[in-house]
Amino acid sequence: MDIKRWNYKVEILKNEHICLNFYKIVICAKEIAKAARAGQFCMLSVENAYLKRPLSIYDTDKQTVSFLYKVVGRGTGYLSKLKKGDSINITGPLGSCYPLEPGKNKIPFLVAGGTGIASIHFLAKQLNKKGLLFYGAKNKNELLCVSELKKLGFDLFFATEDGSCGFKGFVTDLFDKNIKDNSIVYVCGPNIMANKIIKTVNKLNIEGYVSLEEKMACGIGVCQGCAINVGNTKKLVCKDGPVFEMSLL
Ligand SMILES: Cc1cc2nc3c(=O)[nH]c(=O)nc-3n(C[C@H](O)[C@H](O)[C@H](O)COP(=O)(O)OP(=O)(O)OC[C@H]3O[C@@H](n4cnc5c(N)ncnc54)[C@H](O)[C@@H]3O)c2cc1C
Ligand code: FES
Repeated sequence: MDIKRWNYKVEILKNEHICLNFYKIVICAKEIAKAARAGQFCMLSVENAYLKRPLSIYDTDKQTVSFLYKVVGRGTGYLSKLKKGDSINITGPLGSCYPLEPGKNKIPFLVAGGTGIASIHFLAKQLNKKGLLFYGAKNKNELLCVSELKKLGFDLFFATEDGSCGFKGFVTDLFDKNIKDNSIVYVCGPNIMANKIIKTVNKLNIEGYVSLEEKMACGIGVCQGCAINVGNTKKLVCKDGPVFEMSLL
């Protein structure tokens, strides 16, 4: 297969503080914007650090690509300080994507936890059918980009651990209450949440896809650092994933 991916220096058009330690960065990269498919990610460089950091694609338009990120350490801390007009090295788009054409009788169930909403937002924009979108966070302040989510045409269901918005509890519990046999499930979020959903989906024998998170060094299938066991074989999350069919896991 012809792999279209770019590795170049790009200009930052915007780096917006959304709330708490969450940011949205917009870069000018028209080739990546054109090629990107929901579920894919890019590796972004960090000054004086050998390793780039992986971020899911949140959105694209003709010229730009945007990412939603949480500051957790040195790399994301560095990103948060970049300003409009600065430049950054980027590689992408990388990895596998979600299937975008659910069967005729299937209802899409999209489930996001935390910054997993980045990948799920892009999916909701590219999917050829509307459905239900479940989004969980610690509290209402950590539910990101809600006004943008409302424009997607999906039925939105929120879950917060403290009950400050929507269902009180975990998004996995909300999902369990609503799941139907004719669903097709797409999930991105912390591994603990993803694993719970994989278990439910596989038990009910429903079609489902999950975007997995692993620490990544190269992001392009060279270092083998992101290998996981899938059945009896080793798969690389950066190259064979991050999106995997749940029935294989
Ligand atoms: C395919 C993929 C897509 C991702 N998409 C997003 C996204 O859209 N938005 C977002 O905010 N984050 C995303 N992440 C996680 C993001 O890559 C890490 O938070 C980031 O690399 C941390 O770098 P750092 O230098 O700031 O932190 P470090 O100083 O390296 O680490 C700080 C903390 O973050 C944890 N951490 C480091 N790397 C990862 C990782 N790859 N996954 C999970 N935890 C990690 C460490 O265990 C540590 O506790 C994604 C990760 C992957 C693999
Ligand atoms: S991160 Fe290097 S092979 Fe996946």
